[in-house]
Amino acid sequence: MNAHYDDIAGQYAAYANASPTRVVELRTMLHMAGELEGRSVLDLACGFGSYGRAMLRAGAASAHGVDQSSEMVAIGRQMSAHAGDAMTFQVSDFLQLAAVREYDVAVAAFLFNYAQSLDELARMAKAAFQHVRAGGRIAVETMNPHYCLAEGDCSKYGLRVLDDVPWKEGAKMEIEFPGAPPARITVFRWAREHYERAFAEAGFTELVWQAPCLLEQDRLAQPAGYWDALLRNGLAAWFSCTKP
Ligand SMILES: C[S@@+](CC[C@H](N)C(=O)[O-])C[C@H]1O[C@@H](n2cnc3c(N)ncnc32)[C@H](O)[C@@H]1O
Repeated sequence: MNAHYDDIAGQYAAYANASPTRVVELRTMLHMAGELEGRSVLDLACGFGSYGRAMLRAGAASAHGVDQSSEMVAIGRQMSAHAGDAMTFQVSDFLQLAAVREYDVAVAAFLFNYAQSLDELARMAKAAFQHVRAGGRIAVETMNPHYCLAEGDCSKYGLRVLDDVPWKEGAKMEIEFPGAPPARITVFRWAREHYERAFAEAGFTELVWQAPCLLEQDRLAQPAGYWDALLRNGLAAWFSCTKP
């Protein structure tokens, strides 16, 4: 896995905070997380804590973020101090995270797209499993298995897909975030059945794919047709599953 965000942490946070899609992404993850009142949340690959913080605002009792980038976590801590929220953070590769606590809800936004092989995807799903309590759930946002670069590079939503080429059983993508110079990341796109198999083998059940939760207020906030590309050929896909 190769996901070095220390050099581009500020750029990523600026993009994500300004992106019109973020509000839709957060709402979709909140929808999949379900009832949050009094729940403990683990934000895997939390970055600057966008998702964990949203869960706290929605009533979660606690949100703990884990990310391997100390710069991302530093921005997250500053944002939480500024907002006065109680999100906690830890710098760690989540694969090395000790299973000291089982959470009611785990969220993982743009983490599993760093799996460079199906074996790695399986290892990552197993690692996530051990941090969720029995009866708890995980909400995942990842690269859209059906994304097609020929149908649009997503630049209207603030980032740009530069390349998408076959890679093992899936695809390898190069994505650029704005800035001077722009920042590039490499991610991997796997098929629905790859995710379904990896999460089932890890022990999760009831995997459900979720469409983006787009509301009338989103449509009214943008020019007509603005969201069409997101619905037809968006970069992200969402699913949730349960730990029995
Ligand atoms: C695109 S950012 C997403 C951050 C946040 N989830 C969000 O959506 O705003 C991807 C994050 O995954 C983190 N990451 C990738 N692999 C990781 C791993 N094995 N353990 C912990 N963090 C990881 C990176 O450091 C980076 O902050």
